[in-house]
Amino acid sequence: MFPTYRGKLEYVCLGCGKRYGIDELLYTCPSCGKVLLLEDVNRGQLKELGSGEYWRGVFDQRAATRETALRGIFRYYELLAPVMDPQDIVYLGEGHTPVVEGAKALQEHLGAHFMYKNDGQNPSASFKDRGMACAFSYLRYLVRSQGWKEILGICASTGDTSAAAAMYGAYVGDPIKTAVLLPQGKVTPQQLSQPLGNGAMVMEIPGVFDDCMKVVEYLAEHYRVALLNSKNSWRILGQESYACEVAQWFGWEVEKLCLFVPVGNAGNISAIMSGFLKMHELGIIKGLPRLFGVQSSHADPVWRYYSAPQEKRVYEPVAVRPSVAQAAMIGNPVSFPRVKTLAERYESVRPGAFQVVQVEEQAIMDATIQANRHGHIACTQGGECLAGLLAAREKGLVARDDLAILDSTAHSLKFSGFQDLYFRDAFPEAYEIKADHALANRPVAMLSEKEKASMPAEAFTHAVADAVAERLALHRL
Ligand code: F0G
Repeated sequence: MFPTYRGKLEYVCLGCGKRYGIDELLYTCPSCGKVLLLEDVNRGQLKELGSGEYWRGVFDQRAATRETALRGIFRYYELLAPVMDPQDIVYLGEGHTPVVEGAKALQEHLGAHFMYKNDGQNPSASFKDRGMACAFSYLRYLVRSQGWKEILGICASTGDTSAAAAMYGAYVGDPIKTAVLLPQGKVTPQQLSQPLGNGAMVMEIPGVFDDCMKVVEYLAEHYRVALLNSKNSWRILGQESYACEVAQWFGWEVEKLCLFVPVGNAGNISAIMSGFLKMHELGIIKGLPRLFGVQSSHADPVWRYYSAPQEKRVYEPVAVRPSVAQAAMIGNPVSFPRVKTLAERYESVRPGAFQVVQVEEQAIMDATIQANRHGHIACTQGGECLAGLLAAREKGLVARDDLAILDSTAHSLKFSGFQDLYFRDAFPEAYEIKADHALANRPVAMLSEKEKASMPAEAFTHAVADAVAERLALHRL
């Protein structure tokens, strides 16, 4: 049965505090220009409807639903965007990604206790689908309620947002069209193939993500377009589902967990904090987990801010340098004000529970390769989380037995080019990465085309089999 509760959502400006209704598309405050968050002013009613135990029961029961609209992120409908009707909700199989125990040998080797949450197992192979499912459901609601004949969804991207936007756009179809703006040469070929395959208009510009972001921000201010970056608060709501899933998977007991999350534009870490805070407010969870943002030293504005003593903190954008955590290679995160606001709230519930660690490129790449050699499917941002855990262990922030949940935000296959560079030890200097040759792996050519042409088919099969047997030192029966 579809939920009957309906919230009253309002945009709240994090700068001046002004509030706005949701019948128009807003990305920044029309009054002061700062970023917004969406708030359900009816949420007090959720407390009256039931206790934390009641809501835990509701969400646990919904785990078995066959109602399409509730199978994905909207299992947590009342916590996310309880304004949509089931007909608006787009479901492409997002959410409920597996939590996989770290391979035993790797945990022992690293002296760390961890599990990966494989968000790369979302439909477009990254966590962005969580937010995009929500943003597109809201767009459908707007199109329906306002009778729009045409709307263009647009985003800047380091690769994954554009893949998700194009996929949802293609699925929903008219009257929504999608266009994406990418930094030329700074998106992997696999990521680039996604919006192309989904038929989006793909435009490339010289520069980095931050340059693309400025262009789409300008467009969103001066033209009628739907901005699909996480500056769009609906994206944040959808991504809160990650926190809900972690809590539910661990039986709603999260206080002992340490979550590691890569930080780029800072939408994801904002969403995760917000999700946990909501569950805590409703008594669904009793306490908050510890949360660690992770940034590469080549793109670390958030780490720089939090590494200074409280009274000396100043936010400054940085010029990024090439990073294998390319999807998070962002020097001026749009959601930084959200991080600041939400981290204050988070810390007011559990002091010291929000931290940011910095890691080197070498450590990110070594961790990615190590994880995948042990059967994981970590993208380079997932490797960044493992490197972050090791850095936190070294600093004594995390104990040997603390359980870390590492967010592998995308699928390893999207970033296989970096693996290839590592195996060939061919990273351009700016990455500052040298390969550990013991970890290199390359295909071995067994027989040549010429040799194949020189013998009958059966003889070729036997010759190859003998060569394989010799290579693997197999014993003949
Ligand atoms: N991991 C992956 C795989 C990403 O694609 C991104 C961001 C991040 C981590 C960082 O998350 O921005 O919420 O802090 N990718 C965006 C994009 C910027 O355009 O795909 P964040």
